[in-house]
Amino acid sequence: MNPYWSDVVAGLTPYVPGEQPKLANLVKLNTNESPYGPSPRALAALRAEVGDTLRLYPDPNSDRLRESIAAFYKVKPAQVFVGNGSDEVLAHAFLALLKHDEPVLFPDITYSFYPVYCALYGIEFKQVPLTESFEIRVDDYLRPNGGIIFPNPNAPTGRPLALAEIERLLRANTGSVVVVDEAYVDFGAESAVGLVDRYPQLLVVHTLSKSRSLAGLRVGYALGDAGLIEALRRVKDSFNSYPLDRFVQAGAAAAIDDRAYFEQTCAKVMATRTWLVGELAALGFDVLPSAANFVFARHQRQGGAELAAGLRERGIVVRHFTKPDRIAQFLRITVGTEAQCQALIEALGAILA
Ligand SMILES: Cc1ncc(COP(=O)(O)O)c(C=O)c1O
Repeated sequence: MNPYWSDVVAGLTPYVPGEQPKLANLVKLNTNESPYGPSPRALAALRAEVGDTLRLYPDPNSDRLRESIAAFYKVKPAQVFVGNGSDEVLAHAFLALLKHDEPVLFPDITYSFYPVYCALYGIEFKQVPLTESFEIRVDDYLRPNGGIIFPNPNAPTGRPLALAEIERLLRANTGSVVVVDEAYVDFGAESAVGLVDRYPQLLVVHTLSKSRSLAGLRVGYALGDAGLIEALRRVKDSFNSYPLDRFVQAGAAAAIDDRAYFEQTCAKVMATRTWLVGELAALGFDVLPSAANFVFARHQRQGGAELAAGLRERGIVVRHFTKPDRIAQFLRITVGTEAQCQALIEALGAILA
């Protein structure tokens, strides 16, 4: 170990993002990006920002972008926080709102960055097992806690939790913050954003990386009571005042304003998902019900690792998790274009023949 490292760094096990392969022509279905390009209005706004004004710092509070987001969701700009990807927004939420004496609760099978933030910030946590059918059961969270966080739909399962269940949790859990990570909500789950005015302990986190086709831009946002948003801003301004540059603020606002393009691309992904689920089932896969832009599927005979390796040999990358054991048989497959999904089904058919 390097003698100059702090104890915190020495003890970290960093998050490992899905591979961004350097090879060209791969069918890339491993990191849940959109298969469609960003809104043409977003691209135009990005290009328009190239110029002399780059000598100036950007707006530290991203007011124009926060106004667009507030208008989209019919909340006040003071109820919106933006960050460099929802990962950054989540990190700030852990430090600002989830670090207390009691442990934070999150599912045992979920976004694997949550325990990494806990380690970084010294936050106790308890993992709550999903049910046999990989569902979040709200009753399991009704116990003393320093906060609760889960994605809806959950990742990597894709299973959604009904809004009525989230509201039941909020009614019962008033003493700590509940963070609902809605990275994938636009692909068919019910958003909790409509509850933020009624529940001051609710923080809803979104990203432009999935349903708005802008993973490369790095923008995420949180919606919640102005008091929670102020806490996030306090962390931001103690860390980096300018997390979003001038291009990003302009492009992201234009993407949010382009509702029609967003709705079209989400509808296309959902239609392809329906087709893909049917084809996978016909090949002998059990597919969990997905409200996300990916599906989580296990073949009845063939192991997940072998299938992932076989697909890779055929130029198709999907995500396979070895831990925990309960999900080692599964593949997480991003819903691509129709042509990409067709290629995937053909390759799986050949491997399984
Ligand atoms: C559940 C969940 N939350 C948050 C993120 C982070 O998204 P980003 O940092 O690109 O906004 C991801 C990324 O895959 C995710 O799966």
